[in-house]
Amino acid sequence: MAQIYEHNLWGGDKYEYYSGLGSHHPDLVNSYIALVSSFLKEFETPPVVCDLGCGDFNIGKELVEHSQKYIAVDIVPELIAHNKKTFKTENLEFHSLDIAKENLPLGDCVILRQVLQHLSNTEIKCVIEKLYNYKYVILTEHLPEGNFEPNKDIISGQGIRLKKQSGVNLLASPFNFKVKEEKQLLSIKSPGFKGVVVTTLYKVN
Ligand SMILES: C[S@@+](CC[C@H](N)C(=O)[O-])C[C@H]1O[C@@H](n2cnc3c(N)ncnc32)[C@H](O)[C@@H]1O
Repeated sequence: MAQIYEHNLWGGDKYEYYSGLGSHHPDLVNSYIALVSSFLKEFETPPVVCDLGCGDFNIGKELVEHSQKYIAVDIVPELIAHNKKTFKTENLEFHSLDIAKENLPLGDCVILRQVLQHLSNTEIKCVIEKLYNYKYVILTEHLPEGNFEPNKDIISGQGIRLKKQSGVNLLASPFNFKVKEEKQLLSIKSPGFKGVVVTTLYKVN
């Protein structure tokens, strides 16, 4: 992942760190921020949010004000160091960690936005085991349009399952994530790419 940022493999040559069109295109970003903000504002006491794979924080930065505490993590230490310097708010923390291998911070609500799509099935399974510690998970995945065979395996990296006409479905085999409720919040046709970017809210506990 560090090499993707170092060589701007997700585009954005004028940016020091750029997490891709999915993190910047107004069609994908604006409605997502509006919806997730209104979900966070529904809580009587603002929730502690854990943003797993926070990337360049173009999106996360808009959500911090609606949380009691916002803990943003990413596997790329240089990106986390950059974010720490760039985004400073009292209720905001950044940590460098591998969400598949390490313990995750405690919180009420997890945000996983276009992260699992880059991970192998083995890594996704390791992440899912830890999601049972949270009340809510807001998951965003880039998926093929229409019907598709979910969860074809890939090697972790820059690419996603779309090239295999597949995408991540946590409720399907081999993950079988058990949730209390599932609600699709958003489905947006991906600008410039095939497929749709789908955001789903899971009530876990
Ligand atoms: C496509 S970017 C999405 C960034 C952000 N969530 C957004 O939607 O703008 C995927 C991010 O996940 C991070 N990532 C990938 N594997 C990870 C892992 N095992 N642990 C933590 N972060 C990871 C990458 O470094 C990258 O910043």
